[in-house]
Amino acid sequence: MAITTRITDSEEHVHSTFGSRYVRDPLPRFKMPEKSIPKDAAYQIINDELMLDGNPRLNLASFVTTWMEPECEKLIMASINKNYVDMDEYPVTTELQNRCVNMIAHLFNAPVGENESAVGVGTVGSSEAIMLAGLAFKRKWQQRRRAEGKPCDKPNIVTGANVQVCWEKFARYFEVELKEVKLQEGYYVMDPRKAVEMVDENTICVAAILGSTLTGEFEDVKLLNELLMQKNAQTGWDTPIHVDAASGGFIAPFLTPELEWDFRLPLVKSINVSGHKYGLVYAGVGWVIWRTKDDLPDDLVFHINYLGADQPTFTLNFSKGSSQIIAQYYQFIRLGFEEFLRL
Ligand SMILES: Cc1ncc(COP(=O)(O)O)c(C=O)c1O
Repeated sequence: MAITTRITDSEEHVHSTFGSRYVRDPLPRFKMPEKSIPKDAAYQIINDELMLDGNPRLNLASFVTTWMEPECEKLIMASINKNYVDMDEYPVTTELQNRCVNMIAHLFNAPVGENESAVGVGTVGSSEAIMLAGLAFKRKWQQRRRAEGKPCDKPNIVTGANVQVCWEKFARYFEVELKEVKLQEGYYVMDPRKAVEMVDENTICVAAILGSTLTGEFEDVKLLNELLMQKNAQTGWDTPIHVDAASGGFIAPFLTPELEWDFRLPLVKSINVSGHKYGLVYAGVGWVIWRTKDDLPDDLVFHINYLGADQPTFTLNFSKGSSQIIAQYYQFIRLGFEEFLRL
């Protein structure tokens, strides 16, 4: 994002680190140059400037995957010019995304019948996935409240104060009050008891984190589910749970399969996971999976047909690249359960 700052004279042009005939006349920094330059000049200038960036392979705090096999990089480059949304033109890419959604849904124990396919979508990352899941909860809650003849203008969401910034974004962008359970010394995740105490009739969902951004710790989703079931039974509310498994979604199914945090728990209605974290893909892919079709309100799904046949979409952006989806599929079939467990 660019924000307004004062530009001093010395910052008006691009400063080149290396001497070259290409940079004898410096390029304006913030205005499009009047004249074109040869392609090798453009390459050299940008490549030289980028040498001052850090090296991703040495960045241990990148939050994302920084190395993939050359075979996968070949697939990425071969599909870099495919717009994912053009599903008619690229039906195989769409099929690969659907396979990924189903593989992840099975990994998370979604109740998918023998001849059914799972409900979910590939996103740019967990943040977009969380926006979509949050919108589905907000819409479901509004529909229920309207049907009961009750006001639906003050939705809230209960989370721990340790949530990642994307939850604050969701709350602010989509006008939902964020009710955060405070952390205590020595206990740096959401306490399910306190979270359930904070739930009221306007709560669209409680969001639990599997893999807190601060410490990596898993929150106790099973206890949260039990306490919330009791509260729902007492009050007649129907407050659901979302699990933000951005990091833990590709850890827990392999390392702690006995841990119940996913769709085995009845109140868990949606789960997000970042493909670019432990899904082992370069930055730009996340996933959101819904428990069943009924958990995703129909009126949030757009059916567009101007690129061909009917295309259902539920994403924030229309166009996006296909490479990351293909790369995710590569990792699933290349590594299988066996290697995801080992890595
Ligand atoms: C728990 C949690 N949720 C959401 C996110 C946002 O994920 P993304 O970068 O995939 O949008 C992160 C990122 O670190 C995270 O740790």
